[in-house]
Amino acid sequence: MLIRSSPSHPIQSSEITPEATYADRRKFLARMGLAAIGLATAGCGRAAEMPAAKVDAGGGLAELKLSKQTSMAGGETQTPFDTVSHYNNYYEFGTDKSDPADNAGTLKTRPWSVTVEGECEAPGVLALDDLIKPFALEERVYRHRCVEAWSIVVPWVGVPLADVLKRFKPTSKAKFVAFTTLYDPQQMPLTRRGVLEWPYREGLRIDEAMHPLAFLSVGMYGKVLPNQNGAPLRLTIPWKYGFKSIKAIVKIRFVEQQPAATWNHMAEDEYGFYSNVNPQVDHPRWSQKSERRLGELFKRPTLMFNGYPEVAALYAGMDLRKNF
Ligand code: MTE
Repeated sequence: MLIRSSPSHPIQSSEITPEATYADRRKFLARMGLAAIGLATAGCGRAAEMPAAKVDAGGGLAELKLSKQTSMAGGETQTPFDTVSHYNNYYEFGTDKSDPADNAGTLKTRPWSVTVEGECEAPGVLALDDLIKPFALEERVYRHRCVEAWSIVVPWVGVPLADVLKRFKPTSKAKFVAFTTLYDPQQMPLTRRGVLEWPYREGLRIDEAMHPLAFLSVGMYGKVLPNQNGAPLRLTIPWKYGFKSIKAIVKIRFVEQQPAATWNHMAEDEYGFYSNVNPQVDHPRWSQKSERRLGELFKRPTLMFNGYPEVAALYAGMDLRKNF
């Protein structure tokens, strides 16, 4: 992620090129002690071999009981757990891909409460367990595509976002849903650098939020989310670029107008509000036609809506070049 106009931004544009992504991956592998690049491509089945304790960043590693497991990534190989938990975007904990795994241990994810407010009949402040427990946890294997043109396949654990939202009885004025991340410089010391506007914010149109694919994750790979992946609660919107999937959510607000979203607000010509994965609409500074799956050497074509055509009806009649 890069804002062209921000001189304080620590990331060079070269870093978003696929070559640099690859270089970052090498750095990551070197850190993991995997010298041979051949190991980078050995994605298949590695998640199960990884000792889980390695990624305990304070979020706990309790096993999650699942009611249902659905693969929604066309049977594609899952990206290894260690890769997904050590190659992250989470600017509250630093801007290098390895920073969140190194730094997010300072985030205290229990107790945790979420405020639900705005245009709804039953607003409230709920402890995380009270928010999630009424629903059966599901595992959904989704493709996840970052705007920087890398992608992963992850078994997320959570609940459909619609199930949670409906409980608060949104009114007819609730046209959008706004989400806010925790902002606490004590627990997130790097936010003092002011790289982004804090707290991190995101939003969805209400029909997007209610779509059966929109997911609220509390875990991945059968375990509680590592802090660096958004513990204890994050959005997972598989047909949109990754920055829509806001982490460490503390507030959900039903609103009438399109809410401000961090990247869109900071650089609206580069990061649209909708941010649907769309290979036909390039980022102003790089192509979105293809992507590199982490752990693979060669690029693959990017699919419209990230390969989830069932969401197309949400955008019927809209010019997706304008509403990118
Ligand atoms: N949420 C918060 N609060 N802060 C962030 O910096 N980064 C976003 C998104 N959610 C971000 C965030 C971006 S740019 C991406 S690509 C995804 O998280 C990355 O999720 P992952 O690290 O679990 O792959």
